[in-house]
Amino acid sequence: MAATLLPTLSPPVSRAAAFLLLRAPPKPLRTHHHLFRSLLSSASSPSTPATLRSLAPMASAATPDRRDLLMLGIETSCDDTAAAVVRGDGEILSQVVSSQADLLVKYGGVAPKMAEEAHSLAIDQVVQKALDDAHVSESDLSAVAVTVGPGLSLCLRVGVHKARTIAKAFGLPIVGVHHMEAHALVSRLVNKGLDFPFLALLISGGHNLLILAHNLGDYVQLGTTVDDAIGEAYDKSARWLGLDIRKGGGPALEELALEGDPNAIKFRVPMRQHKDCNFSYAGLKTQVRLAIESRNLYGRCTDGIPISSATAEDRQLRADIAASFQRVAVLHLEERCQRAVEWALKMKPSINNFVVSGGVASNQYVRTRLNYIAEKNGLQLVSPPPSLCTDNGVMIAWTGIEHFVAGRFDDPPAADEPDDMQYDLRPRWPLGEEYSEGRSVSRSMKTARIHPSLTSMIQGSLHK
Ligand code: KG4
Ligand code: ZN
Repeated sequence: MAATLLPTLSPPVSRAAAFLLLRAPPKPLRTHHHLFRSLLSSASSPSTPATLRSLAPMASAATPDRRDLLMLGIETSCDDTAAAVVRGDGEILSQVVSSQADLLVKYGGVAPKMAEEAHSLAIDQVVQKALDDAHVSESDLSAVAVTVGPGLSLCLRVGVHKARTIAKAFGLPIVGVHHMEAHALVSRLVNKGLDFPFLALLISGGHNLLILAHNLGDYVQLGTTVDDAIGEAYDKSARWLGLDIRKGGGPALEELALEGDPNAIKFRVPMRQHKDCNFSYAGLKTQVRLAIESRNLYGRCTDGIPISSATAEDRQLRADIAASFQRVAVLHLEERCQRAVEWALKMKPSINNFVVSGGVASNQYVRTRLNYIAEKNGLQLVSPPPSLCTDNGVMIAWTGIEHFVAGRFDDPPAADEPDDMQYDLRPRWPLGEEYSEGRSVSRSMKTARIHPSLTSMIQGSLHK
């Protein structure tokens, strides 16, 4: 039996129905859902189809009644177990993250089975702490939002199971959230004036995405990575350089790079011959590895000489590699972003904002360089604070709020839903459809998908 977790499969609600929902009395909050359902049946007739566009103003965080909405967000797609409680107007009541840093150090990356175990061990405590810190209980919630993809199936399942268990016990609706959409939309919580359309660069351990966000759930993918994401390149380089990666490879490398000469080593900038907005970091990773090997550093690193016990000369060499890597890794971002800005402005001249989010966006050098690109093009850079750039429950709760208000959520699970149910998880789930000009030959080999994109699913449900 497969449960449908995607909120987009629910019928869209009309503007009037959404408005009435927002006016509904706040408690008991379960009422939101029942009222909403009855409104859906009376207000969204086929003759007055609502579009995502017409709902956008309702989704503005300025509506005071949204304060009555209380969303629990749960995130377990990768190596962090996270939960948060957020009000409909964006007030963050709690934010809890339990990271698997020790496992990362031990296995050199995310080992799915170990990560699943760590999520299972942490999830109850993390969610309970999020509720306690917010001074609420499950019965106060309006709904539960949970990441359903993309990510590791084993890990996603832990969060989804927890979300459904709570939703079943307390009769709460569920909003299935796209992890990368959440990275983008959290910028609307941070910056209440951030309206659609906007351009977004999403950079994390597993993804490098350039998207044009037309509206909630309506995205065009301008570029993606043909192999590794930038975060993966930071993580591996940090490991090979013998850095202390307990707080993450990215932050460790960023810190060491401050001591190095960014022009010491001439790494090649990837994909310059491809005039598109796609990314590639596998080649740069190899260049770093070769640089380390050719300076006889690699053997010493793997022999267990951490940077903390390196000689001054050895430390300087490693810092030079780190700084040179960072310069080229970010230059690759800059070049693709410059082209993406041009494409985006051609399609939507009204764009004012350039969102940069995802774990790597917490890097100060990345922010500074991309701010320069934004300014050069007359755009405002919007980048959430580092704690909201790296994986967190707030972004899931907030994205849940945005979709819930737009009428996309699932009914509470049936009381007899079995515990060992096969959930509808989406480990490989594109956010939007590819921009035709952006399709590169190098990517055409790699587009095998398991799920249709979020945007095409939403469009499909609108035209039913
Ligand atoms: O978004 P995120 O927390 O998780 C994924 O969805 O993957 O991103 C994690 C990635 C990791 O590769 C981590 O090393 C990188 O973000 N990261 C950084 C920094 N902080 C986190 N990379 C460079 N500089 C940083 N300061
Ligand atoms: Zn992420």
